[in-house]
Amino acid sequence: MSAFLSIRNLSLVLKGGPRLLRSVSLDVEAGEVRGLVGESGAGKSMIGKAVLGILPRSVEVVEGEIWLDEVDLLKLRPSERRRKIGATAALIPQDPLTALNPSRRVGPQVTDRLVDILGWKRADAQARALELLAEVHIPDPARVMRSYPHELSGGMRQRVLIASAFAAEPKLIVADEPTTALDVTVQKQILHLIARMQARHGTALLFVTHDLGVVSKVCGSLAVLYGGLVVEQSPVRDFFRQPAHAYSRALLAATPKYTDPMAGLNPVPEAVITAVQAEVAQADASWRNGGWRHD
Ligand SMILES: Nc1ncnc2c1ncn2[C@@H]1O[C@H](COP(=O)(O)OP(=O)(O)OP(=O)(O)O)[C@@H](O)[C@H]1O
Ligand SMILES: [Mg+2]
Repeated sequence: MSAFLSIRNLSLVLKGGPRLLRSVSLDVEAGEVRGLVGESGAGKSMIGKAVLGILPRSVEVVEGEIWLDEVDLLKLRPSERRRKIGATAALIPQDPLTALNPSRRVGPQVTDRLVDILGWKRADAQARALELLAEVHIPDPARVMRSYPHELSGGMRQRVLIASAFAAEPKLIVADEPTTALDVTVQKQILHLIARMQARHGTALLFVTHDLGVVSKVCGSLAVLYGGLVVEQSPVRDFFRQPAHAYSRALLAATPKYTDPMAGLNPVPEAVITAVQAEVAQADASWRNGGWRHD
């Protein structure tokens, strides 16, 4: 059986510009937690956005397939695609403040998705939202439903968005750096919460992060991205024991140790960057020779 999410040879370009994703192939099995790591600008969020059908207008898909639950999203009409994604997948965003509309109460923002996309009755959506808010350990869910986003702490807002993501029992959740906008003390709680919810609901998770420490705690496997190119995909256990790619080894060496945060901070060596950039250039050269040219 094919994977629940199967991205095949996906290339994105900035319209009239360079490739942002370079023939990315990536699978997420049902119920699996797959990490997606890489430095800033590597294309992690673009992969998540492509899967959720929320790419910026300036970005164009020039090749590839995105199979979600046995359907290639890129072959669907936009309205069908929105319906399929809405019924199957959800997002836990990076910044809970900007993800919520500041001028609307929290309740309708959680229930809207259920009502508008999935056609639930408002009362059922309301009951489900209350249940989920309790499940993510929000005290007094009814009061929180009546609150405005600014009346909640950052951690509470992210709990609301986690509840919202899980509300319709999606089979896949894309979590895009879901803890980086939060206070350090809250990050750990939110990470545990996501891991617990994932395990309880059996949801597949594509977990975007630049933090290998997070990957080691929550993911079963990971893909390493550099310049829009996947340079390694491995089970997490193998990766931490023996990363396959020189760039992965350098990333691992650059990760601070929890026991001593200031030790082990080795920047990625220039020779490693030069080598992986040559791989990116090579990938573009063979891609152009394979037929597609921009302009
Ligand atoms: N809205 C946009 N329009 C055009 N290009 C964009 C847009 N957002 C990002 N990019 C470009 O696409 C590339 C990939 O960006 P992406 O946001 O996926 O990186 P990332 O790996 O998520 O980085 P970060 O860790 O900083 O979030 C980068 O070169 C970035 O400059
Ligand atoms: Mg990003």
